Amino acid sequence: MEKLSITRPDDWHLHVRNGAMLRTVIAHTAQQFGRAMIMPNLKPPICTVAEALSYREEILQALPKNADFTPLMSLYLTANTTVEDVKAVSSSEFVKAFKLYPAGATTNSDAGVSQLSGIYPILEALEKYDIPLLVHGEVTSAECDIFDRERVFLETQLSDIAQKFPALRIVVEHATTKDAVQFVLAHGPNVAATLTPQHLLYNRNALLVGGIKPHFYCLPILKREPHRQALVAAAVSGNPKFFLGTDSAPHSQALKENHCGCAGCYSAHAALELYAELFEAENALDKLEGFASLYGADFYRLPRNNSTITLTKQEWRVPASYGEAECTVIPLRAGEVLRWQVVAP
Ligand code: NCD
Ligand code: ZN
Repeated sequence: MEKLSITRPDDWHLHVRNGAMLRTVIAHTAQQFGRAMIMPNLKPPICTVAEALSYREEILQALPKNADFTPLMSLYLTANTTVEDVKAVSSSEFVKAFKLYPAGATTNSDAGVSQLSGIYPILEALEKYDIPLLVHGEVTSAECDIFDRERVFLETQLSDIAQKFPALRIVVEHATTKDAVQFVLAHGPNVAATLTPQHLLYNRNALLVGGIKPHFYCLPILKREPHRQALVAAAVSGNPKFFLGTDSAPHSQALKENHCGCAGCYSAHAALELYAELFEAENALDKLEGFASLYGADFYRLPRNNSTITLTKQEWRVPASYGEAECTVIPLRAGEVLRWQVVAP
């Protein structure tokens, strides 16, 4: 049987929510990943180190016994974020980044920033204290076409920020376009991107052909095939500026299959398997470990994990759903057969 052992990977962009949903989903991530960067877009958002540490406690409580998993936290950057908040992160063991959401860009982003120039003092502090800025890179202006929102954000906002704060470490989260790939390549080693399984495996046809498929609706929205191809080329290139971040984002089935379905794909149940499938199809399984397990840790200046994880070529069928009642989640590839499987430790 074909096997692949790699350093235990990390997920550098993950939503786990709280309460019953957290308890429904967290074991999936803890089984595969050594660490995950937990997104702060709860209601209300996680804005201070104290809030992040108490959220982290809740995550630790929800973990299966003997889990080999460390949640790392990010803070939600708002117009009220202070330089003191930045300083607090710089001396925190478990809070490692700030997340910038343009106001209204995505799920629970109402508290986001509407005037980027207003947060320049905070960006200056992030640069000074060398704390990564994680960016949801989309403009939110009503006139901007949803398929152009990432490109326009990079052109009109993020390039200014990168120029004004040249040493600021920036992660273009869930990059979805060739423009984002070019943006990352055009900047120094302090500018990187995470890539999700859905944006690497699917283009917008998955969402819109043969009926509207709400479980493929996420933000930034799936793009045209040439964009997907640019993301794939970046992922398998071995360039350390591109690393794994699933953006697994659980929502209840009822809220996804809705007249106004919410944004987010759930992939934590099979994250590494989905990436392995892609890297295999690209004849690049030898590049999976760097992408999944090494480059992200290096970017965050954290030690690489010292345990390993094994994937085997063993078919298994993804359940039709996980969880129950209002925590019923429909995963990517629900009811379908996957080729790779993570071996239980
Ligand atoms: C995320 C969520 O549901 O929290 N949704 C998504 O479509 N990606 C938010 C985000 O990362 O944009
Ligand atoms: Zn996200």
